[in-house]
Amino acid sequence: MCVVMPQSSDMAQGMDHALPPAPPCAGLRIGDLAPDFEARSTIGPVRLSAYRGRWLVLFSHPADFTPVCTTEFVALAREAAAFAARDCALMALSVDSLFSHFAWLRMIRDRFGVEVRFPILEDPTLVIARAFGMVSPQDSNSAAVRTTFFIDPQGVIRAMNCYPANLGRSVPEMLRILGALQAIDARGTLAPANWQPGEPMLKAPSHDLDEVYGAADMTGWFLSHSEGED
Ligand code: BEZ
Repeated sequence: MCVVMPQSSDMAQGMDHALPPAPPCAGLRIGDLAPDFEARSTIGPVRLSAYRGRWLVLFSHPADFTPVCTTEFVALAREAAAFAARDCALMALSVDSLFSHFAWLRMIRDRFGVEVRFPILEDPTLVIARAFGMVSPQDSNSAAVRTTFFIDPQGVIRAMNCYPANLGRSVPEMLRILGALQAIDARGTLAPANWQPGEPMLKAPSHDLDEVYGAADMTGWFLSHSEGED
């Protein structure tokens, strides 16, 4: 059984069938509290709010036993320790039944030699997928895109992305986003383009006119590296 507590008025509006179809990934915004839910999963019942205090990557996949999804789960299972080292749990979700998930995981283990130990939730009614904007409110099937939510220890959505069914996610990029968000929080800095853990970050720009005029060069007041590394 799933219990979803929507947080945003957008979602309530989205249930009105008179509205034009909302594109996937349109349900929630960065800064929203992730809606809570309870669901059956491959590791037993899970409740999203039980993950408070840790980082969480919640992601949907279109279907079990499909080629791109299989490569994603193999890649994620192989990097599970890297997420754990960042105190981040992984949680997957699709419309497929719990028994489909079990059969797929057994096949992945036997064929690729890797055990997926993070939970895969079943969402047969799409109630969770709809609450998170993983499918359009009007969709009656699960031809869902691949959405990924990066949820901080307070339960707040800090980043999200959305890929089509025929394009697999990059696990190194998922780890980079997680590492960047954690470094930003720890140091009050900004992550520049192509930032990788261990590289310098940027200082927040000055709001002070004296610092603008006093900077050594024309960009120093708004574009400069912070001291130290992640
Ligand atoms: C895949 O994972 O390969 C896939 C899933 C749904 C539609 C197309 C491809």
